[in-house]
Amino acid sequence: MATAKPLSHAPAAPAEALLTLEGVHTHIGAYHILHGVDLVVPRGQLTMLLGRNGAGKTTTLRTIMGLWQASQGRVVFKGEDITRQHTPHIAGLNIAYVPETMGIFADLTVKENMLLAARSAKRASQMDEARLQWIFKLFPAVEKFWNHPAGKLSGGQKQMLAVSRAIVEPRDLLIIDEPSKGLAPVMINNMIDAFQQLKASGVTILLVEQNIHFAKRLGDQVAVMDNGQVVHAGSMQALAGNEELQQSLLGLAL
Ligand SMILES: Nc1ncnc2c1ncn2[C@@H]1O[C@H](COP(=O)(O)OP(=O)(O)O)[C@@H](O)[C@H]1O
Ligand SMILES: [Mg+2]
Repeated sequence: MATAKPLSHAPAAPAEALLTLEGVHTHIGAYHILHGVDLVVPRGQLTMLLGRNGAGKTTTLRTIMGLWQASQGRVVFKGEDITRQHTPHIAGLNIAYVPETMGIFADLTVKENMLLAARSAKRASQMDEARLQWIFKLFPAVEKFWNHPAGKLSGGQKQMLAVSRAIVEPRDLLIIDEPSKGLAPVMINNMIDAFQQLKASGVTILLVEQNIHFAKRLGDQVAVMDNGQVVHAGSMQALAGNEELQQSLLGLAL
């Protein structure tokens, strides 16, 4: 008996790509680290970059930001080829990057750290007050320790400050390297809540993660890296529902 094709199987219109990497190779000194990375980050979604230690995730982020130079391939942001651009130009396209090392100034107060991240404010009073209140709700520690040196914060609080700095002004793309690294489970849950609200604000996010629980709760799209290449790309939902695939890609026993 012929049945009508269910509507849910109709292909969805592909979301517009905000950032695209095409066949990107990166060398660090004599080492060939990225071997043709293909990656699409759709606008308005959260894309998870997963993969074992040493797979090339951080190198991919650094190559996007121009901190390493691609030796082959193309990086395209909002239609502009940024492959050969310098980091200040790339950041100036309204991309915020939170490195693994977080980039916090330990000797400066939380307030001063936030102010340095704000491009349009020279004094704390010039920072967007409504936006600050929104950040304080997402990360109460930022408000609590506003006048304390950032170096005094716990590891989790520093991560929260690092993400707060990235969102102190509206950005088109947030690129964040392992925000859950070293966090206690309760802090991870706080971070997941914050990212859920950030997602709801419509910002595009590219997130490196090792924590599969974190990834499953937040990811719209997922790309898995191995040996300097993206070896799987698709929806997070499809990967989360396929334990065999998780096992083969990530070596996870769930
Ligand atoms: N500065 C560097 N010099 C030499 N090799 C590096 C450097 N940074 C990273 N690598 C190597 O590149 C590979 C990918 O590293 P990385 O991108 O940091 O992986 P991931 O973030 O997925 O853990 C690893 O084998 C790592 O040892
Ligand atoms: Mg890394």
